Amino acid sequence: MKSQILAPTPANIALCAKALRTGDVVAMPTETVYGLAGNASDANALAKIFRTKERPTFDPLIVHVALEKSTLAELMRGSLVDSHRLSNTAVKLTDKLIRAFWPGPLTLVLPKTDLVPDIATSGMDTVAIREPKHPVARALIQEFKLPICAPSANRFGRISPTSAKDVAEELGERISYILDGGSCEVGLESTILQVREDGTLILLRPGVIGLDEIEKVTGLRPLDARKTSTDGKPALAPGMLASHYAPKTPIHLMPTPVSQMMSPPKLNQKLPKKVSLLVLQGDEKKAASAIHELLGVEVLLARSLSRSGDWVESARNFFKSLRDLDASGAELILSEPCQESSGIGFAIADRLSRAATRPSD
Ligand code: TXA
Ligand code: MG
Repeated sequence: MKSQILAPTPANIALCAKALRTGDVVAMPTETVYGLAGNASDANALAKIFRTKERPTFDPLIVHVALEKSTLAELMRGSLVDSHRLSNTAVKLTDKLIRAFWPGPLTLVLPKTDLVPDIATSGMDTVAIREPKHPVARALIQEFKLPICAPSANRFGRISPTSAKDVAEELGERISYILDGGSCEVGLESTILQVREDGTLILLRPGVIGLDEIEKVTGLRPLDARKTSTDGKPALAPGMLASHYAPKTPIHLMPTPVSQMMSPPKLNQKLPKKVSLLVLQGDEKKAASAIHELLGVEVLLARSLSRSGDWVESARNFFKSLRDLDASGAELILSEPCQESSGIGFAIADRLSRAATRPSD
């Protein structure tokens, strides 16, 4: 059966909350990407999320809450976080982060209580929590009256969905309802930040809330998980695999932006006749004709993340552009490189490098 795309009317939100109560899963919009929602307190519903996405159970889920007031005290009322395992410093930091960034695209990883089922956290003693800003996500959580787990509503390893139609493409035959909240405003998944028991902050996944903003609010520069190790192992978030967000069409990252190319870029593979092109900034048509001239290939489709070089717009367009290029019929997607080391550009660089990594790489 095909899934139904539902307008977010009160009646449809009530219908979806009812489905959640029976242990079913539904897709909901958030400001970052669409999520596949299930009752966070029901291990069977969570198992259904993993099955529907074909997601391995070592990759934990984010719990979504809607608070009356965005403070740590209010979050604690839900009894998901074990505050006894947080030092005074960690408590203060967490409260500052919640007040500054919630509701919004920041996920906090905190010590968990027994109320969070092990399957949600892949057996770890921490839980990832965020308060989404999207009014439809909030309305669904409020109507349901309990926290909701929601991974991105795509099949595992694939491109994250930023519209109801994208979700239908990913999971259309597998779920009954998709709440339509329009195109996602942010377009990239939330920043994930772990607050360690001693108050150390660790960036587990970059997002549109960057290290500078977090430092401004907390006075502390978070450590980058990729460079941090505990017991010799990187402190990476589980599930942050090198290959992720991958289109079916391979992506080749070119060494320089098209506008700086003096000679044809070297490719470590045979160049097919038909390619598509991802341009980071500027005019995609100009870039496409330059690639056509330099490489002698037909460019089936070119997409620019932002003609004016606006990173907020780039984030919003990123997954949608990948999805369009993937559907263009090209055998290869050529992409300009993204080498930003801070801000939103850093989050885009992270997603782009994972999208360009084949599972076997
Ligand atoms: O913006 C978002 O965060 C979206 C929307 C739907 O809210 N959700 C999302 O979920 O991106 P998902 O499942 O695609 O990514 C969740 C990631 C996991 O892959 C894992 O890396 C990290 O969150 N995570 C979850 N629980 C964790 C924990 N206890 N410790 C460390 N990392 C955790
Ligand atoms: Mg995901």
